[in-house]
Amino acid sequence: MPDLRDEIVFITGASAGIGAACARAFGAAGARLVLAARRTERLEALAREVRVPAHVVTLDARDRGAVDRAVAGLPADFAAVTVLVNNAGGALGLEPLHEGSVEDWEEMIDTNVKGLLYLTRALLPGMVARDRGHVVNMGSAAGSYPYRGGNVYCGAKAFVRQLSLCLRADLVGSRVRVTDIEPGLCATDFSLVRFHGDAERARRVYEGVKALGADDIAELVLFCVSRPPHVNINTLEVMPVMQAPGALVVKRA
Ligand SMILES: NC(=O)c1ccc[n+]([C@@H]2O[C@H](COP(=O)([O-])OP(=O)(O)OC[C@H]3O[C@@H](n4cnc5c(N)ncnc54)[C@H](OP(=O)(O)O)[C@@H]3O)[C@@H](O)[C@H]2O)c1
Repeated sequence: MPDLRDEIVFITGASAGIGAACARAFGAAGARLVLAARRTERLEALAREVRVPAHVVTLDARDRGAVDRAVAGLPADFAAVTVLVNNAGGALGLEPLHEGSVEDWEEMIDTNVKGLLYLTRALLPGMVARDRGHVVNMGSAAGSYPYRGGNVYCGAKAFVRQLSLCLRADLVGSRVRVTDIEPGLCATDFSLVRFHGDAERARRVYEGVKALGADDIAELVLFCVSRPPHVNINTLEVMPVMQAPGALVVKRA
């Protein structure tokens, strides 16, 4: 287990799934935590569970003013954030684009794209000024490989992939690192959220497949952050063994 007692790790979407697993993993490595999401009670329970100092921030990542206020209002012990895990996000709907919900699209773009930008804009200047930091973005295999009904979600995660690479270019010469983690199928509440609470439909997504778990991803995030300071993992794509990229869609007559 790496010793991360010098790190202050700000995790968005820490109330569930991959974000909560990251909090537990970084907590086990001794890091101080800032836990952000909308569901405060879950964050508070997690803050009590981890055996490290943890600050809870109730935050809707889509609300730019709230993001700025949350970052400006960090207690002194948590203010010098060294790691930002931009994890808040997800998919909504699986309809073909011509039948899709504009409200779902807006929420996906506002969270996965704009929320990630707001958090990064608020926390990155401190990292650059201190010449130390790591931005870990939670992209997705969906950002590289299209699938039917993925449309806007795939596009949003393609944005995360490209933005992460561009950030690396912006930050070259500083010691601030950037990593895009790109998981495939991972069993969390992701599908429950995507299908607007339809538990049976969500269950079928993982039926008969040994999917990744949130802990598998958290372990990789911890791995990237705990590399020696001169090492930057740009992109890390990971899938369950029972999933592979490359299927082309063919509709036969
Ligand atoms: N599971 C997969 O198969 C998979 C694969 C590739 C990538 N990912 C990505 O991994 C990330 C985490 O997803 P997950 O699988 O852990 O799903 P999850 O269990 O549904 O967790 C999503 C987290 O994001 C938070 N969140 C959503 N909207 C938010 C908002 N507007 N403001 C603040 N927090 C918000 C949720 O917290 P609140 O609801 O409490 O706000 C929750 O903590 C997402 O970016 C997702 O796109 C997932």
